[in-house]
Amino acid sequence: MRVLVVGSGGREHALCWALAASPLLSRLWCAPGNPGTAEHAENLPIGATDIAALVGFAGDNAIDLVVPGPEATLVAGLADAMAAAGIRCCGPSAAAARLEGSKSFAKEIAEAAGIPTAQWQRFEDAVEARAFVRRRGAPIVVKADGLAGGKGVVVAATPEEAEAAVVRLLGSGGVVVIEECLQGEEVSLFALCDGTTALPLGAARDYKRIGEGDTGPNTGGMGACSPPPVLTPAIEATAMERIVRPALAEMARRGTPFRGVLFAGLMLTAEGPKLIEFNVRFGDPEAQCLLLRLRSDLLAALLAACDGELGDFDLRWREEASVAVVLAARGYPEEPLTGGPIGGREAAAQVPGARIFHAGTRLEDGRLVAGGGRVLTVCALAADLEAARSAAYAAVARVQFPDGVFRRDIGLHTGAAVVGAAVA
Ligand code: AMP
Ligand code: GLY
Repeated sequence: MRVLVVGSGGREHALCWALAASPLLSRLWCAPGNPGTAEHAENLPIGATDIAALVGFAGDNAIDLVVPGPEATLVAGLADAMAAAGIRCCGPSAAAARLEGSKSFAKEIAEAAGIPTAQWQRFEDAVEARAFVRRRGAPIVVKADGLAGGKGVVVAATPEEAEAAVVRLLGSGGVVVIEECLQGEEVSLFALCDGTTALPLGAARDYKRIGEGDTGPNTGGMGACSPPPVLTPAIEATAMERIVRPALAEMARRGTPFRGVLFAGLMLTAEGPKLIEFNVRFGDPEAQCLLLRLRSDLLAALLAACDGELGDFDLRWREEASVAVVLAARGYPEEPLTGGPIGGREAAAQVPGARIFHAGTRLEDGRLVAGGGRVLTVCALAADLEAARSAAYAAVARVQFPDGVFRRDIGLHTGAAVVGAAVA
């Protein structure tokens, strides 16, 4: 099998690493990749949203399977363009990627499918939206409808804050969704889907804020652990039955079946799991945690998803737990300081169970330096969460990255979601 991975983060390094272990693989490329993906794949100078160039490369090089990482690639229609060229792509069409690309679309699907989720309303008019906020009171959640690069959600503690968010997120000609604020523990549940069948791909807890104890601005994710201790097998089964499978059935009923990885952000409330949002891809750094725990052949699983054969597929997992600690460049998320040298990776990787994935790194005169906000994901797999935490932090301690910052509480329980700030 000749496989092309699309993207350049820690998630894509982990995907390349897992695919490289497959006996079915003959050759692997990554576009554009990073110095970590280059250990397993041939990196290509093609951007992740350059759909025409990706399809051209895949056609010219007899690619059997395309594995897209980021949502922007999918929302831009990579899967449709590959389908038109007769090339398998394990990701949703642009129509199905609207589950992530439009919050109001996701809410409509949830409503049509009877999925438990926060009460909501869609607004295009600021006067009406602000009146609604005043009527409902706070806490209340205001969301931009479209992809907002992590700046589109405000969990407002006061009506004034919510009204200010309405004005900012509505902008001129925009759409906002205003939601009931759910209370509880958050977890991310992943499912591999072939249009009709959804197989659980594991779950993770994501640590979104930059600061320990869930403080400071929101980021792409500063760490993750899997499995999340609060998600019992019974709650996971309930979430698959009440949230993931009904969404899949509704998408199929509408003629836009969902293929690829469906990522359900859940709030575990007193009334059971409720949907916060859908994403249409693996999370980063959740993917690093999940893939460390996957025992089955990832390539075979992704092919089965593309071919509508997940009904007969048996995905196996390791019993161990995994922890991923993100090393970010100082100044992230606002203004990351790039160019700082990174050393000690070999020593770090020698910690039993540890594995290091590159994200924003680059080579400068043969030296590895920071090239972006999130720089490395230092992961570990061990018998239980505490052992995985110890191993991951033992590895972090061996990395020499003076310009780096990280959270020391990844894998620790830090309480329920914080109300009162822009969180995504
Ligand atoms: P989203 O981009 O929709 O996942 O929202 C980002 C974050 O905002 C989530 O991870 C939650 O922490 C928070 N959030 C979003 N919607 C709600 C809600 N209805 N109630 C409480 N918190 C929410
Ligand atoms: N870590 C959250 C995400 O990938 O969306």
